[in-house]
Amino acid sequence: MKLTILGGGGFRVPLVYRALLADRGEGRVTRVVLHDVDAARLAAIDRVLAEQAAGVPGAPAVTVTADLDEALRGADFVFSAIRVGGLAGRAADERVALAEGVLGQETVGAGGIAYGLRTVPVAVHVARRVAAVAPDAWVINFTNPAGLVTEAMSRVLGDRVIGICDSPVGLARRVARVLGVDPADAWPDYVGLNHLGWLRGLRVGGRDVLPGLLADPELLGSFEEGRLFGADWLRSLGAVPNEYLHYYYFGRETVQAYREAAGADGTRGAYLLRQQAGFYEDAARPGVKALDAWLRTLAEREATYMAANRAASGDTGGRAEEDLEPGGYEQVALALMRAVARGERTTLVLNVRNGSALPGLDADAVVEVPCVVDANGARPVAVDPLPYHAVGLVTAVKAVEREVLEAAATGSREAAVKAFALHPLVDSVTVARRLLEAYRREHPGLAYLA
Ligand code: G6P
Ligand code: MN
Repeated sequence: MKLTILGGGGFRVPLVYRALLADRGEGRVTRVVLHDVDAARLAAIDRVLAEQAAGVPGAPAVTVTADLDEALRGADFVFSAIRVGGLAGRAADERVALAEGVLGQETVGAGGIAYGLRTVPVAVHVARRVAAVAPDAWVINFTNPAGLVTEAMSRVLGDRVIGICDSPVGLARRVARVLGVDPADAWPDYVGLNHLGWLRGLRVGGRDVLPGLLADPELLGSFEEGRLFGADWLRSLGAVPNEYLHYYYFGRETVQAYREAAGADGTRGAYLLRQQAGFYEDAARPGVKALDAWLRTLAEREATYMAANRAASGDTGGRAEEDLEPGGYEQVALALMRAVARGERTTLVLNVRNGSALPGLDADAVVEVPCVVDANGARPVAVDPLPYHAVGLVTAVKAVEREVLEAAATGSREAAVKAFALHPLVDSVTVARRLLEAYRREHPGLAYLA
């Protein structure tokens, strides 16, 4: 089994490789090809992987290449985890948005739109190359904004592209943990778009255990989303939202927190730009154990995840030990690959075309819902409709995504302005126009918008 990783020089690649090393099952991945446009990053990650594989019998062989077609040829699975414009681009997305007083997070609000506008054309190119040279491969998309990018690729690859995110899994796992339930026995009624969904129930043995959590303020205060949103608001909603909904429900506070972060340690993008540059430099140094440098950097990255949001909600205690446990990101990918490759049926929350699963959205809209996965791929399970307020957010953001896809397909500046202007977290058409101009000045990758 050959796995190609696009963005092979990316920081999270060793997580995936670590999971592969632990997989002893039949039909497991035996060859890994890393593709990246940055040779230095590729070399650093290659070193980490070599140190991880040392002494592990039957470790998947790793090769690296800068040639996309060569990387794709013969692939059974393609993981796409690219970052167009790099972390410098992410930092710029945040800076430009903040200068207009709006949110510039990489997947939410103006930042997500800017990131989407420069990523979609590249993702579509990748999809076309997959269709041409590896038409039988399954594409697993990690690239953010994951829902939008998956939808762009699905226009070329249909249901052979599946988007993944570890946030819904992490949320369901945390809720199961505080309720003393084995996550493997629990069915999450989780519905929405990527980074815009709600856990509305958690069924165990045919019974919904979520109401028990919502009724218990102490339990609600004992896990991340509970502290982020506060017990009262979760009770009002009757659901536990994805952590990224913090940017919607606490819009002013999160913009303010980003502002404060910008003046201190830097926004998330600016911080990671610095932190990651340090890692890649270290990992290239002779005599340095690249794996140790990676583990250190990973621990720091996890510990500071969403720090600004936690500060905004008054949660100053740092992240709980259990929340730092690895296993989200790479385990979803591995579980998905196993189910497809071995035909072992399972259910996972994934980003797929809606079909008729979620009422109110069209069939081609990529949604994030529980899916049945087997050798035929992932099929969304029909879910109950969302309440009106959630329908409003989901359809508004899907409309934004559609304008981004239109802009990327046609080069229409008008569509790009519309994308910014229609977003619930951008409150003025004038601001939308200025945002597009500022982003165009910042990113050469947006020059295609005429
Ligand atoms: C979560 C999100 C991902 C995101 C990751 C890392 O897992 O679901 O989409 O890429 O966090 O966030 P960071 O801010 O560390 O890059
Ligand atoms: Mn995600």
